[in-house]
Amino acid sequence: MSAKIIDGKKIAADIREELKAEVAALKEQNIIPGLGVILVGEDPASQSYVSAKEKACKNIGIFSDDNRLSADTSEEELLKLVDQMNKDPKINGILVQLPLPKHINEAAILLAIDPDKDVDGFHPMNVGKMMVGEETFLPCTPHGVVQMLQRSGVETSGAHVVVVGRSNIVGKPVANMLLQKKDGANATVTLCHTRTKDLSYHTRQADIIIAASGWPNTVTAEMVKDGAVVIDVGVNRVEDASRERGYRLVGDVDFDAVKEKASFITPVPGGVGPMTITMLLFNTVNSAKRANGIN
Ligand code: GUN
Repeated sequence: MSAKIIDGKKIAADIREELKAEVAALKEQNIIPGLGVILVGEDPASQSYVSAKEKACKNIGIFSDDNRLSADTSEEELLKLVDQMNKDPKINGILVQLPLPKHINEAAILLAIDPDKDVDGFHPMNVGKMMVGEETFLPCTPHGVVQMLQRSGVETSGAHVVVVGRSNIVGKPVANMLLQKKDGANATVTLCHTRTKDLSYHTRQADIIIAASGWPNTVTAEMVKDGAVVIDVGVNRVEDASRERGYRLVGDVDFDAVKEKASFITPVPGGVGPMTITMLLFNTVNSAKRANGIN
């Protein structure tokens, strides 16, 4: 079998069109959704993610307040900027790009963001709400994964989902979202990580594999059951002298081999990546609506 490719760019473009129409309708009421973006330091991958987020905002009519701070910015300075954005009525969402430099306490920064502007869904209050199934901002990458499954017609109810990777940004929330008692979820979930004994044993049982380990080739063809759905969240730079920039992007899955066994698979690039940014736009538009009493 050769897998059907889940086209993240296409699904993302469809959702962005829906959002663009919503933003246009809000503009009629003089409401312009605003996103405050903060990047500390010069990490090249973070710079490119943040630029893509800012560009996507502008494309659909969201105002973005872009802040690039030097790597030696203090925690106090960063907290001050977050506090200003918390108080600024033009800002509906605040995005502090992670990871932050080591001298800044990430947990303290996430806690300082107003939960009503936490469009990343990383504030402990929103994480808790997500866990108990209350409506809240859902973290963008896991929400993007769930949307991709739904919009591709993949049944999650009763399916065995194996998540590889236990990060706070992807692994833990996606596991949590898929086990919720609601449409588009209701899965049986196994969460694997670096201390899991015999990872292949678990992945071979999976109807749906979500690879979010952060390492190329974490999921190889022998680890995948025939007909499984494989979602690759990884974005890894591997050296490639044949490319002008000296590297190429690969996911966590051995795509060429796994696509011969899977029923559905996401490519890298062009899979989950565009969905992450799209769900950030979704959260920002919804935050602006909520701030203005619109459901
Ligand atoms: N770093 C990697 N992914 C993300 C994300 O979704 N949001 C933020 N703020 N930082 C990240």
